[in-house]
Amino acid sequence: MLQSRFLLSGLGLSLMIATLSAQAAGLTSEHKAFGKTNDGTPVEQYILRNSHGVQATVITYGATLQSLQIPDKNGKVADVVLGFDDVQGYQSGTAYFGATIGRFGNRLANGAFELDGKRYQVPQNDKTNSLHGGTQGFDKRVWSAEPTKAKDSVGVTLTYLSADGEMGFPGNLKTEVTYSLNENNELRIEYKASTDKPTVLNLTNHSYFNLAGAGNGDVLKQVATLHASHYTPVDVKLIPTGELPAVAGTPMDFTKPTAIGKNIKADHQQLKYAEEKQGGFDFNWVLDAKGDVSKLAADVSDPQSGRRLQLYTSEPGVQFYTGNFLDGTVKGKGGKVYPHWGAFTLETQHYPDSPNQKNFPSTRLDPGQTYTQTALFKFSAK
Ligand code: GLA
Repeated sequence: MLQSRFLLSGLGLSLMIATLSAQAAGLTSEHKAFGKTNDGTPVEQYILRNSHGVQATVITYGATLQSLQIPDKNGKVADVVLGFDDVQGYQSGTAYFGATIGRFGNRLANGAFELDGKRYQVPQNDKTNSLHGGTQGFDKRVWSAEPTKAKDSVGVTLTYLSADGEMGFPGNLKTEVTYSLNENNELRIEYKASTDKPTVLNLTNHSYFNLAGAGNGDVLKQVATLHASHYTPVDVKLIPTGELPAVAGTPMDFTKPTAIGKNIKADHQQLKYAEEKQGGFDFNWVLDAKGDVSKLAADVSDPQSGRRLQLYTSEPGVQFYTGNFLDGTVKGKGGKVYPHWGAFTLETQHYPDSPNQKNFPSTRLDPGQTYTQTALFKFSAK
């Protein structure tokens, strides 16, 4: 009796030691070379890991989330974001896989806006619109990076100085983006920016998720909830009309868990504006959380693998885009091709074209102010 009690507590003790050392060894980060741009600029990769098998790789080209390994319900890990194996893929890519987007996420009508009575013209790289900061946006720049460490997370902070007038935007703008990973399987992206002249700013991350694994078919059976009872409908050029109608009764209603494919082929003008041939989602949803980062904004799960992503954000909107412009011609990581509807994005943002829309929350940033944004992507599986 005495002996068996002793044995038991001995077993308990060794289990405890094993758990403690797993926790201590749990969060790690390393950085190493990723490659070089065509002009020879070195690009680094930062790899963040926790003890549950989650691994996030961020590269300094575009401050891009290059890969994200997430275990499924059986512990089997898959890379759930689209991307490339080398810098050249990102340099020639046009889909913004995983990139930090700036200065202005999504579209600006006619590539123009006014500030204090002065008109600014920025590149029209999407028909007559400007898209995602212009031809050489933040996604095409090499950022500086430093590893970071907090009590319960490991991370990397990337910095980019955008000169006054770059891509037509006013003000010297300093931008900082921090990715961090913790033991709760939360990948947090925090943004900070400041300017020396009044300007406009709309930063986001453009990760394309496929919870079944990147290149593993389309996402039509994955189930999405968007905690948003309104959205910003668009015109034929995907510029918001300025209205904020209810989603109720339209294919844009994701207030209850809905398979992404359930209404994607519906006969609805908005879906055709998003992509004229096969349709798709590519709109800004007005989040009910209104920038309260403690409230759930979006929740997507894959019934087959059991993987689930929950999004929290300090932004008022999210662009839910279903990879309507993917056409299976681009070869991604491991030579896999990404089919039409092969991913979804959740781009936390202010509403598209805000500088030209008087009823939308302002995207203006003045000297002396600090722009901040938090996006939290929490993963689980069951
Ligand atoms: C955003 C836009 C889409 C598309 C992608 C990039 O999600 O809303 O229309 O341009 O970026 O391909």
